[in-house]
Amino acid sequence: LRVAVLASGRGSNLRALHQASLEGDARFAVSLVIGNNSGAGALAYAREVGIPAVHMSGRTHPDPDELDEAMRAALVAHGTGLVVTAGYMKKLGPSTRGEFDSRIINVHPALLPRHGGKGMYGTAVHEAVLAAGDQVSGATVHFVTEEYDAGAIIARSEVPVLADDTVESLAERVLAAEHLLLPTVVQIIATRDAAPAEL
Ligand code: GRF
Repeated sequence: LRVAVLASGRGSNLRALHQASLEGDARFAVSLVIGNNSGAGALAYAREVGIPAVHMSGRTHPDPDELDEAMRAALVAHGTGLVVTAGYMKKLGPSTRGEFDSRIINVHPALLPRHGGKGMYGTAVHEAVLAAGDQVSGATVHFVTEEYDAGAIIARSEVPVLADDTVESLAERVLAAEHLLLPTVVQIIATRDAAPAEL
């Protein structure tokens, strides 16, 4: 399965996914990285390990429809079978969503449906978890739809929230869960794709 990763920042989930793809039993490869921020760590990592890396944003394509179409075309040109948004801070356009309908997944740093939606990213998510007094948090992988964090949930991985947690300590624990969950889900999707139809 050829996987394209869309990322805006650091790219630690990209790294986890790429490293998992190098394991002997992996049924997927990361074949394209698209970043909407030319300085993204994700793009730098992709270049370092030799994955095609493309910067596409309102700077490269001021017209949103053209950006959407360029993204769709790049994904198709690389033979993409699954799109993973990992810390990608923009909504996808209708033509990209239409092309890859139900083949776009996102990783979110909380247990959806709690603590999702517009504005719920980065430290805000963990602040909300701590403020709510939740005793568990975790990572969610879900399908991407038009609305933020609202698509069907594929899998979740829980971590405890400890009494003395700070946003930083909780974020770190959740991120470690994301790094295990995301490659696992992608491997399951890839395995299912490869399975005989009667399964
Ligand atoms: C992750 O916590 C992801 O769930 C969230 O943004 C963060 C991205 O981290 N949407 P990275 O760029 O993969 O390191």
